[in-house]
Amino acid sequence: MPRPEKHVFICTQNRPQGHPRGSCGSSGSVAVLNEFMTEIQSRNLFDKIAITNTGCMGPCIVGPSVLVYPEGILYGKVKVADVKTIIDQHLLGGEAVAALIVPKEIW
Ligand code: FES
Repeated sequence: MPRPEKHVFICTQNRPQGHPRGSCGSSGSVAVLNEFMTEIQSRNLFDKIAITNTGCMGPCIVGPSVLVYPEGILYGKVKVADVKTIIDQHLLGGEAVAALIVPKEIW
């Protein structure tokens, strides 16, 4: 397997209902993960883009959290409808999706 150009980490952490930190899992991150996987598979982008689900990466308040390397750009409150934009504009086009970037004071 060649080294991917981009590696996308999607937090799918769950916590018990009522936990003060909440979780990306309860904010819909599994649906976001599935949308990434569906798009990568349908476009056959496995050699360029790797997708990994993770546990908590810290900024739970802005979940679902999606972290893109090698840039180290963290997207927050990502919805299923944002996935195609992230793939087309950032992962393939090289331009980060500014409206979804988590503010520096949070991460
Ligand atoms: S639960 Fe996803 S960043 Fe903390």
